[in-house]
Amino acid sequence: MKILVTGGAGFIGSHLCKFLLEKGHKVICLDNFFTGKKENIQQLERDSNFKVIAHDITDTKNSIDIKIPEGVDQIYNLACPASPVHYQSDAIETIKANTLGIINILEFAKLNGATVLQTSTSEIYGDPLEHPQKESYRGNVNTLGPRACYDEGKRVAETLFMDYHRKFDLSIRIARIFNTYGPNMDKNDGRVVSNFIAQALENKSITIYGDGSQTRSFCYVNDLIEGLYKLMSSGYNYPINLGNPGEFTILELAKKVIRLTDSDSEIINQNLPQDDPTRRKPDISLAIKKLSWNPTINLEEGLKRTISYFKDRH
Ligand SMILES: NC(=O)c1ccc[n+]([C@@H]2O[C@H](COP(=O)([O-])OP(=O)(O)OC[C@H]3O[C@@H](n4cnc5c(N)ncnc54)[C@H](O)[C@@H]3O)[C@@H](O)[C@H]2O)c1
Repeated sequence: MKILVTGGAGFIGSHLCKFLLEKGHKVICLDNFFTGKKENIQQLERDSNFKVIAHDITDTKNSIDIKIPEGVDQIYNLACPASPVHYQSDAIETIKANTLGIINILEFAKLNGATVLQTSTSEIYGDPLEHPQKESYRGNVNTLGPRACYDEGKRVAETLFMDYHRKFDLSIRIARIFNTYGPNMDKNDGRVVSNFIAQALENKSITIYGDGSQTRSFCYVNDLIEGLYKLMSSGYNYPINLGNPGEFTILELAKKVIRLTDSDSEIINQNLPQDDPTRRKPDISLAIKKLSWNPTINLEEGLKRTISYFKDRH
């Protein structure tokens, strides 16, 4: 198949492109290189089935069908900065990617009769009042806070996907992804796993926002990619949680990283950012039932692999 991966030069996108090429597909990676990096896809560029197009999905003058006149069979839409540092650096652009950009992607999918998968997020649940979070939970999001450009952006993106499905019978998939980590994360993008590993390897203080009692669930990237692929291959047109249900406090994560890197780092506490969720854990019973998907790589193993990647780049 010919598959378009938008945001393909980013952390998750680069793993997805590699995985799809290994399955024998032709892959077009489209990216504006805002947070994506050439080095993430350098190895893939040797493959004649891989093509890279520099393009912004919000561009309304040069539509995607001009860039890819030959069309595609499937689209994975990952084009949106995922770390708070980046998505808050230009909130308006983040909202544009999730509104204008999404409409451009959906129109392109409609034109090609392609199935299109949206990488939504656990952030659409906001600071959840239900625990663990099921797909039926409608969320608790502050529409006005600094995270809203991303959280509300991703919510309206889901709405647009559903409306194109209802109105045009477009084949859609919506993956609600929970915290994912692994090689190819940028050490400066402010995400908790990459922050802690980079700080520990340099024996710098590990900064915990708040007292560290807030929880998160961490999914290793290879597990997530399997889930995205299974979801795309399913006939399921509704949102589905993809994440690892293991729940850890941020303090536990910091201690694990210090132990696995054999670091002398101390832990220091800083103020909690506004609207930081206190608890996060996916209920993945729907993914188990509909996709026969269940993550297999535990936090300890995933951290070891990620630490080894970061060590190689130090
Ligand atoms: N990593 C996670 O834990 C996580 C969790 C939930 C959802 N997601 C979603 O998965 C997707 C990928 O996340 P990631 O962690 O790989 O982030 P990332 O920032 O590494 O990748 C995003 C990619 O999209 C590109 N991009 C951004 N805006 C674009 C635009 N307007 N046009 C074209 N390309 C654009 C960036 O250059 C980058 O390559 C995102 O949509 C994100 O919201 C990620």
